[in-house]
Amino acid sequence: MSNPLREGLEAGRVVPPCTVVIFGAGGDLTRRKLMPALYNLAVSRALPGGFAVVGISRGEKSDDAFREEMHEAVGTFSRKKPIDPGIWTDFAPGLFFQAGAFGEAETYAKLKERLDTIESSRGTKGNRLFYLAVPPSEVRGIVEGLRGAGLVEKHTSISELPFTRIIAEKPFGHDRASAAALNGLLGEVFGERQVFRIDHYLGKETVQNLLVFRFANSLFEPLWNREHVDHVQITVAEDIGVEGRGRFYEQTGALRDIVQNHALQLLCLTAMEPPISLHADAVRDEKVKVLRSLRPLGPRTIRSSVVRGQYTGGFVRGDEVRAYRQEPDVAGESSTETFVAMRVFVDSWRWGGVPFYVRAGKRLNRRATEVAIHFKRVPHAIFPVPDGGISPNVLTMRIQPDEQIALRFTTKEPGQNTVLRDVAMDFRYGSTFGSNTPEAYERLLLDAMRGDATLFTRADEAEQQWAFVEPILAAWQENPTPPPMYDAGSWGPEASHELLAADGRRWRKP
Ligand code: BG6
Repeated sequence: MSNPLREGLEAGRVVPPCTVVIFGAGGDLTRRKLMPALYNLAVSRALPGGFAVVGISRGEKSDDAFREEMHEAVGTFSRKKPIDPGIWTDFAPGLFFQAGAFGEAETYAKLKERLDTIESSRGTKGNRLFYLAVPPSEVRGIVEGLRGAGLVEKHTSISELPFTRIIAEKPFGHDRASAAALNGLLGEVFGERQVFRIDHYLGKETVQNLLVFRFANSLFEPLWNREHVDHVQITVAEDIGVEGRGRFYEQTGALRDIVQNHALQLLCLTAMEPPISLHADAVRDEKVKVLRSLRPLGPRTIRSSVVRGQYTGGFVRGDEVRAYRQEPDVAGESSTETFVAMRVFVDSWRWGGVPFYVRAGKRLNRRATEVAIHFKRVPHAIFPVPDGGISPNVLTMRIQPDEQIALRFTTKEPGQNTVLRDVAMDFRYGSTFGSNTPEAYERLLLDAMRGDATLFTRADEAEQQWAFVEPILAAWQENPTPPPMYDAGSWGPEASHELLAADGRRWRKP
C-alpha cells in the first residue's frame, strides 16, 4: 500500500494510461489551452504509452476533421512551434470525436460504447479523466449523464484502478450557495479524491515557486511575519480588455473572475503556515486556514476597504482602445467592475495587523502579476536621507511576465559623500532556466492523470473563497451605482490610490 504522505507534490512521476474525455471540444479552452498542453506533453514524452482523447461537442464531424482542427489549433497556440510532424503522427491517431448534446442520455450511451472500443485499441486500461470545459450551466447535465450511463464508480481512495476522475473548470459556481450545490452534486457521484477543480494560477511555475521559495530556503521564513513585514501587495494586472467575452464578463466582473480564485490563491500561498508535508490535503488544509482567518468584511468596512472601477477608453501600449461599455455584449450603462482593489487582514498570530492589499483589473497600464512583501523600515536613520527616510526593503515575486524574484535594498553610491540609493538583487527565471517554461495546463493535466490534487481547489476551499467575497457582491448589489471610471492604460481609479494613501502607503509600480 502506498504511503499517503508520499502523495501530492512529492509523489512519483508515474502517469497511468488513460483516456481524457473533453466536454466542450469545440470551445476556445480546448483550442487555446487543452490541446496545445496535451501536445506539449507529448513533445516532452510525458504522456503515458496508452493514451487517447475523446472530444465531445454538438455537431457531427469525423475523427479526421477533428484531428485537422486540433492540428490547426496546436499550430497556432502551442508554446513549442512549429508542430513536430513526427510527434503529431504519433499523437493524432489518439484523438477521437463524438457529437452529442450534453443534456441527452443518448450522448452518454454512445460515449460508453465508444470508450470501450477506444480503450481496447489504445490500451488505456479503463482509466478515464472527464474534463468539463463547459459553462457552469452544463455541469449538472453532464454529471447526471455520466452517472445515468454508469460511467462513474465512486472511489474513496486515489489509488483505486481503473480510475474515473473529473476536472471542473472555473468559474466554480457564482456564489457560495451555487458552489456548495455543485460540490453536493459532484459529491453524490464522485468521491472528493476524484474531483479536480482547476485554478490555472496554481499550475504556473512561479506560483508553485512561492512554496519552494518560502519553505526550501532558511533566509526569509523567519522574517515572514508581523514583526518584520509592514504590508503585502498582491497585483494581478492585465492590459487586455474582455476579449470578446462581454456576455460572460457582464455576469462575472473582476471580483468573481480573478479575486475570488487567482488572487486569493496567491494570498493563501503567501500567508499560509508551512504544511506538514506536500500531501495534497496537508497543503490545502493550510490554505483553507488562511481563508478562514480572513477578516470578514461588513458593509462599513466594504465601503472603506474595497474599491471597484470600470475602464473607459484610453491608450494601452500606444493603441487606442474602447471603453468597457462599448465592448460587444456589454450594456451601455453597465455597472460591472473591471477593477477591484481591497485591504484585507489575515487574523492570525503570524499576520495580526499586517494589511494585505490586493488589486486586479483589466486594461491596466501593463500585464503584471506579482506578490510584493514590503518589510518594515529601519527603526532609526543614522544616515542623512532625503524626506521620507530610507526606503524599506521590498521582496517581489513576479509571477508573470518576466518571471523573477527581486529584493530591493539600500546601498551607498560610490563617492566622497554618503549618498544612499535603492538597488535590486534580481533573479530572473529566463536567464537561469531559459524561457520556455511549461504552461499551467500541462502541469495540471498531468497532475490530474496521476491523481495529484495538490494544485487543485478542494471543495471546502472553493466555498470558503466564495464566503469571503460574497458580502462584497451583496453590498454592491444593494448599491448598484456605476463604479468609478479609470482610463484604459492607467493603474486604476483614483480611489485605489486613496485606499493606500489613507494608510500612508502607495502601490508599487510593477
Ligand atoms: C482567467 C480569467 O481565469 O484568467 C480571464 O477568466 C483572465 O479573464 C485570465 O484574462 C488571466 O490568466 P493569465 O494566465 O493570462 O494571467
